[in-house]
Amino acid sequence: MIIRRFVSSDRNKVSYLIRRCLNEINSEDYTADQVSFLCQEFTPGNVQARFVERSSYVAAQGDRILGCVTLKDNEIGSLFVNPSYNRQGIGSNLYSYAEKLAIQRGATVLWVNSSKTAVLFYKNMGYILQEKRRDAKGGTTYFMYKKL
Ligand SMILES: CC(C)(COP(=O)(O)OP(=O)(O)OC[C@H]1O[C@@H](n2cnc3c(N)ncnc32)[C@H](O)[C@@H]1OP(=O)(O)O)[C@@H](O)C(=O)NCCC(=O)NCCS
Repeated sequence: MIIRRFVSSDRNKVSYLIRRCLNEINSEDYTADQVSFLCQEFTPGNVQARFVERSSYVAAQGDRILGCVTLKDNEIGSLFVNPSYNRQGIGSNLYSYAEKLAIQRGATVLWVNSSKTAVLFYKNMGYILQEKRRDAKGGTTYFMYKKL
């Protein structure tokens, strides 16, 4: 597996991967309406727009995309791993890649609006939970930060 920059031709695979996570993993965190709203946020076109605007990376094995992550200023986002490959270290590898990049850019703190199911993952990465945030459309997120 390698971690490389997102390119536009990845958008369909990344969209599929994220929507699979939303339906198979995050459906435990959100209502059906919220999952449907979030799936719309990650159509191939929206993935393209969001990922090009940020520093975006994918974990790839040959033609397969196993995970993705974005970094915008001090914010980690869109960290998703193919549900068939969970708990194999792909999420922490992607996260560490983005954190190193942030440190190289001079960041002293990082934050994330985590899903409920990822709170333990981010705690494991050294994050502190600051507050729960409610968003009617997208559901509850957990604002977490890490001092670098
Ligand atoms: C959160 C996510 C990215 C983790 O990816 P992953 O590749 O499975 O994570 P890793 O294998 O690197 O896990 C590292 C550590 O985090 C913790 N962890 C990861 N997933 C966890 C879970 N579901 N429950 C509890 N702890 C978890 C564990 O301590 C794990 O170490 P261990 O397996 O040795 O116990 C992945 O589950 C995912 O895509 N979730 C759905 C999307 C999502 O909610 N993303 C966050 C949006 S902000």
